[in-house]
Amino acid sequence: MNPVSDFQSWAAVQQIRIEEKLQSLLPSPDIAPQRLHQAMRYAVLGGGKRVRPLLAFAAGELSQADPARVAIAGAAVELIHAYSLVHDDLPCMDDDVLRRGRPTCHVEYDEATALLVGDALQSLAFQLLGEYRLADDLATQFEMVKLLAAAAGSRGMAGGQAIDLEAVGKVLSVPELEFMHIHKTGAIIRAAALLGARCGNGLSVKDLAQVDHFAKCIGLAFQVVDDVLDAEAPTATLGKTAGKDAQQNKPTYVSAMGVARSKEFAEELRQDALKALGRFDERGLRLRQLADFIVLRKF
Ligand code: IPE
Ligand code: IPE
Ligand code: MG
Ligand code: MG
Ligand code: MG
Repeated sequence: MNPVSDFQSWAAVQQIRIEEKLQSLLPSPDIAPQRLHQAMRYAVLGGGKRVRPLLAFAAGELSQADPARVAIAGAAVELIHAYSLVHDDLPCMDDDVLRRGRPTCHVEYDEATALLVGDALQSLAFQLLGEYRLADDLATQFEMVKLLAAAAGSRGMAGGQAIDLEAVGKVLSVPELEFMHIHKTGAIIRAAALLGARCGNGLSVKDLAQVDHFAKCIGLAFQVVDDVLDAEAPTATLGKTAGKDAQQNKPTYVSAMGVARSKEFAEELRQDALKALGRFDERGLRLRQLADFIVLRKF
């Protein structure tokens, strides 16, 4: 089978696995408060590339992790990601009306509900990490909880979002942009890969450091590509309103260095990420393919 279609069928299997897991873990829409539960399901289910759970599954292959464990860890990360999107779209942040090809959560429901959806998704993510056994020893599991909390918090995604909002209308230097992107987007992507890897056993401290470096590069590349797509891709392909960054005066890699150089930079990051996987044999195949997907994607 050619490697591309092989990756596509692997990804399709994992996407179904994660969709089913999220379906069953989210509160039923019939349970009170129904409207909040319906809105949580609306924000999470039936859309999105599921890149973060895919990274968790791929990293789990390095440590021969039980896919049932990785599915829980991947679902927790995807819940945090979905919460970050619901809040990112609110009028007080990016004020977006379209997400994953549908009205944003606050447009479909209302702002207060969207705020609570984010709160409840974040809590549910951590509830899962406390409820299910994800690592053989509890010390590792505690570290996994801490890792996701740090990635979502003020020194991670939420902090990156604060920097993003403060930066509106300003010109950022490339190191400042990198700092913002590594936090707002990179932190959760890094957590996804590390959580997947830590569901299994046998990886050394050095192995985990290499996974972390891979994910740091690919997490930054992810947001560089997001900036390029915002400038270049049509709304219909993106499923979110194109051209928003320029319209809202957001400093991005595109505003700092132009589309062509941003694409080159993403490619350099991909090469760096792939180098970090050098120590892994064919167990690193899916991570390598995901690096390619993240940099070459069109949506
Ligand atoms: C969009 O993330 C927000 C960023 C962090 C750039 P994705 O591009 O992964 O969005 P979905 O999950 O596929 O909708
Ligand atoms: C969002 O970055 C990063 C998050 C933490 C959600 P963007 O604001 O660029 O994401 P999109 O373009 O709206 O998906
Ligand atoms: Mg934003
Ligand atoms: Mg946004
Ligand atoms: Mg964007």
